[in-house]
Amino acid sequence: MQTAGFLFFPAPWIEFCRRRYGDVVIFGSLFDPQFVMVFDVDQVKQVLRGSPDRLRAGEANALLGPVVGERSVLLLDGAEHLRQRKLLLPPFHGQRMRAYEEVMVEAADRAIESWPVGEEFALLGSMQALTLDVIVRAVFGVTYESRSLELRRRLRAMIDPVASRAGVLMLVLTGGRRGSGAGEEFAQHRRAVDELIYEEIAARRGEVGSGGAQPERCSGEHRTGDSLASREDVLSMLVLARDEGGSPMTDEELRDELLTLLVAGHETTATALAWAFDLLLHNPPVLARLRASLASGDEAYLGAVVKETLRIRPVISGIGRVVRGQEPFEVGGFAIPPGVEINPSIAAIHRRADRYPAATEFRPERFLGSDPPDTYTWLPFGGGTRRCLGASFAEFEMRVVIRRVLERAELGPVGRQPDRGVRRGVTFVPRRGVRVVQNKA
Ligand code: HEM
Repeated sequence: MQTAGFLFFPAPWIEFCRRRYGDVVIFGSLFDPQFVMVFDVDQVKQVLRGSPDRLRAGEANALLGPVVGERSVLLLDGAEHLRQRKLLLPPFHGQRMRAYEEVMVEAADRAIESWPVGEEFALLGSMQALTLDVIVRAVFGVTYESRSLELRRRLRAMIDPVASRAGVLMLVLTGGRRGSGAGEEFAQHRRAVDELIYEEIAARRGEVGSGGAQPERCSGEHRTGDSLASREDVLSMLVLARDEGGSPMTDEELRDELLTLLVAGHETTATALAWAFDLLLHNPPVLARLRASLASGDEAYLGAVVKETLRIRPVISGIGRVVRGQEPFEVGGFAIPPGVEINPSIAAIHRRADRYPAATEFRPERFLGSDPPDTYTWLPFGGGTRRCLGASFAEFEMRVVIRRVLERAELGPVGRQPDRGVRRGVTFVPRRGVRVVQNKA
């Protein structure tokens, strides 16, 4: 019965159990015999602040291994995780975001120019192309169009078949290994992506050796005499990065982290953007206030729209931590034994009426008052030492794209009801992809 609940009506099923059993509930399904969901803000705080040695996020993310690789920051725990995270942090520091703004505006322009006028289309697909364009350029600084296009094509060919619910199941069953038809096909797509990524890593390493860029491969920012250190892209920074012992990242580490950024960095943001437009187009007073505030040069309301979108439609509805060590982990008066996964429920926290009055309504104003929701009440990016590395990047990209679309296009909703959500892999996406019509060019 629980398996059916999770497969067919996850949100109502979880809500029913929360009401019936309280803020800490043990579940079991055919896929996972025992896991504990936590719905209370203080208890979620306890879990997110728990020692990373006791509560292991890497183990909980193991499912993503075949896609992002075993050395990915998402899969590691303990000292190894900390090392990779420190190496990855500088390119995603909040203050560096301005460096990516131009790339984001250009990608938004390309997407807008591709939209038909007077004909219905789905925004989600367009947003996926847009955010993939952005993350590939941010990561590789790729200005040579053909390579960037080829990498994007190969990435989508790898991700698309495994992003569906059936695809995730396939990955769990085969571990992305050869021997099964679907597993073999996935392995081929992965090799095709790896080939391009390793080529790019080798080229950058060559540049470190020769002290400059290789003019015959590149154009634009990759000019002769351009040192790697002066580049703005993430790969150049990572090739030069050194850990506390002075060691650089290995090729395999670089490959896994680059793929992590490419995969984690685009599907999530694209989905959040699609939801943002769905909510704005179905809430005309909010859209009108947003337009008016942007026209007066005030960006605060735009920031609140982004935060409220991520609250009411969290792209990732929950996160995981596996209990390790000799002792059980205490939460809310319960002792959770080693080996059991704890899942703080982002979606349930965001729906709590005691924290968010009229929780089902889209009200960006919540984030503007003197007492906005705190770190453990608003957690679309998770929290603690595992909080999303790309949170500033994603929020910034959402602000840039929403502003640009409102400046350049006049979109209208198709149908009076907002889209309904459905699980796709680990993300919660609009079932119909947010169908819209562009009213005029
Ligand atoms: C709206 C967009 C996004 C959402 C909703 C989102 C959400 C999340 C969540 C919930 C986690 C797990 C946190 C935890 O376990 O506590 C996470 C981790 C992560 N995200 Fe994001 N993310 C987004 C965009 C991005 C972007 C743009 C990037 C990179 C450019 C990125 C890179 C990562 C990485 C590397 C981790 C692993 C961090 C670690 O384990 O230390 N994400 N994200």
